[in-house]
Amino acid sequence: MSDGTKHIAVIGIGSGDPDQLTLGAVKAMRSTDVFFVLEKGEEKSSLTRLRRTMLAEHVPGPHRVVEAEDPWRDRAQGSRGGYADAVHDWRRRRADICERLIREELAPGQRGAFLVWGDPSLYDSTLAVLEEITARGNVTFTYDVVPGVSSVSTLAARHRVGLNRVGRPIHITPGRRLAETVGNDDGDVIVMLDAHESFRQFAGGGTWIYWGAYLGTPDEILISGPVEEVAEDIRRARAAARAEHGWIMDTYLLRPCGDA
Ligand SMILES: C[S@@+](CC[C@H](N)C(=O)[O-])C[C@H]1O[C@@H](n2cnc3c(N)ncnc32)[C@H](O)[C@@H]1O
Repeated sequence: MSDGTKHIAVIGIGSGDPDQLTLGAVKAMRSTDVFFVLEKGEEKSSLTRLRRTMLAEHVPGPHRVVEAEDPWRDRAQGSRGGYADAVHDWRRRRADICERLIREELAPGQRGAFLVWGDPSLYDSTLAVLEEITARGNVTFTYDVVPGVSSVSTLAARHRVGLNRVGRPIHITPGRRLAETVGNDDGDVIVMLDAHESFRQFAGGGTWIYWGAYLGTPDEILISGPVEEVAEDIRRARAAARAEHGWIMDTYLLRPCGDA
């Protein structure tokens, strides 16, 4: 930018399939000078490899990649208040790192980018972190968002289902709050961030599950059926995949059986 303003693009890159990169994302990547990558421990190698492959394939021009360690997050907080506090604390520390990256690694007038898994609007902290940095006022920049294909869209596409039934709502929840939806059979429920196979609460309740792990990647696993019939298959598949890869990302849709 000619007036010296720094600019950040928050670019959704899809949920694992390089073909999910949109033309808008590629355009934004090609006008980026510096890519910021926050490394996550266990998921590190394959996610970083995918980002690097995308850059090698789609960004032929000169650019830099700056890596920083994602701050440690306290996942031991059980209560809802404790969980929210832990997330806010983690975001604050993430904001410290990103603020430094924008201040020190981006020259006036340059464009930086964060490549965000799936879509930046869904369970991702990048936008909240940029808001926090803006509010602090220590570094000045503009930013925009390029939407990406979320894991939820990918799940629905792979199972060839719609996310909602006719005229009904859909509810998206992290696994740790799924219990609050038991007994509400008006809408369908999409579950993310579930480390505990919370769908088991629905066994025997006439609920169908559409489950997917590593969606869009060569390791993708899909299982669907009545929860009571497939819960054990999913447990086995999760355990085997986690043992093989060291980490797992799975998402699922819960739908009352027999409804259109
Ligand atoms: C921090 S959230 C990020 C979501 C992302 N912004 C999106 O749009 O999909 C991580 C959660 O997304 C889901 N997820 C992301 N990528 C996935 C994939 N390739 N396969 C299955 N689930 C995925 C999982 O529920 C995982 O726990």
